[in-house]
Amino acid sequence: MKELNTALVVTLLLGLLVQCSTTPLDRDLSHLPYTPEPYEVKVPEGFPRLEVPEDNPITKAGVALGQKLFFDPILSADSTMSCVNCHLPYFALTDVEATSVGIDGLRGRRSSMSLLNVAFYNTGLFWDGRSPSLEAQALEPVEDTLELHHKWVDLVPQLREHAEYPALFRAAFGIQNTAEINKELAAKAIAQFERVQISDGRAKFDRVMQGEATFTPDEAAGYDMFFDVTNEFPDAECGHCHNVPLFTTNEYFNNGITAAATPEDFPDPGLGGVTGNPYDMGKFRAPSLRNITLTAPYMHDGRFKTLSEVLDHYNQGGQTSANVSPLIRPLKLSEVEKRQIIAFLHTLTDRKFVNHRR
Ligand code: HEC
Ligand code: HEC
Repeated sequence: MKELNTALVVTLLLGLLVQCSTTPLDRDLSHLPYTPEPYEVKVPEGFPRLEVPEDNPITKAGVALGQKLFFDPILSADSTMSCVNCHLPYFALTDVEATSVGIDGLRGRRSSMSLLNVAFYNTGLFWDGRSPSLEAQALEPVEDTLELHHKWVDLVPQLREHAEYPALFRAAFGIQNTAEINKELAAKAIAQFERVQISDGRAKFDRVMQGEATFTPDEAAGYDMFFDVTNEFPDAECGHCHNVPLFTTNEYFNNGITAAATPEDFPDPGLGGVTGNPYDMGKFRAPSLRNITLTAPYMHDGRFKTLSEVLDHYNQGGQTSANVSPLIRPLKLSEVEKRQIIAFLHTLTDRKFVNHRR
């Protein structure tokens, strides 16, 4: 009798368990609120206009959903990692590794990138420009074997069955049913969250430009060389590729960090790997230098540990290859002048933004 009872209890319990775990995938959500409110984006004076795709307007609920996804390890196969692991808010949304490590401990060949002001990088995303939009980009890390190594076909059901996500997708996109949750909507929400990560325009550089602060003599000398303002100091050429207001022109250059006898010799072809054009081999997007003091190590492969090493590179005039930019040439800067340029780069640090996000 006792055994029979135990068997009965076990059977009943099993039945209950099975019932609990089979939440229907298509649950009606139409009774939940959907009252989209536009998210007010503050773009600092002098910044470019914020382009927002017509089919993905920025709403408060969209940004909130995107933020939750960005931080949620549910995005990775073993639930250990999310976007934020490689795009840490404190480091202006990059990581501190030379090249990034994904969930399987595998190291990618490239350094993570700052996501600050990413909405304005309109000439292709990634170091080589291979992704056309934030919406397209957000689909990639989830399935990248060196990053989150998950599969959208497995992740989407997890989101549909989740305790919180269905209501958040409803609030963000007005879907009627959990069955409408898909990777495209997840990517749209992440893109909305990324699009609002914008400088507050209060770095010391900005305050000096607005007449609210003044450079120290070293910063002023560095500024002069960076933009070649007067003939008093040598021209360091930086401003041609890292121009205001974002401290990038969004263009692709070979800045001479790799010696290459032929276009095939670049270990990472960069833009050339995307376009197939030999002239583009070894070219990378000039990154923004805003918050550059927080995002060491430097360059697409993180080869330079400090800004001092970066300045030594530019000062020596770089390595030889056919398509290296003519702006890369021996600059003849003294040790003091190199330090002054670094002092100027420190004025691009937007501590308010960084602390706020933390
Ligand atoms: C394992 C580390 C890692 C994870 C996880 C990761 N990223 Fe990245 N991210 C990188 C690296 C490395 C690059 C540069 C890759 C390249 O150029 O090929 C990058 C580049 C980007 C860029 C391009 C920025 C620009 O200026 O062009 C965006 C946007 C981005 N990541 C967003 C995300 C989002 C969203 C997620 C989560 C869904 C995510 N990343 C997860 C490492 C990571
Ligand atoms: C010909 C255009 C060009 C000039 C001139 C130039 N840069 Fe760059 N810069 C680039 C490119 C392209 C990259 C990215 C290269 C890569 O990663 O392979 C880069 C990368 C950097 C980085 C690393 C950014 C990061 O996120 O890792 C720093 C710092 C930097 N440049 C500072 C300077 C300074 C300071 C000067 C002037 C002394 C200067 N640059 C002149 C094009 C240029």
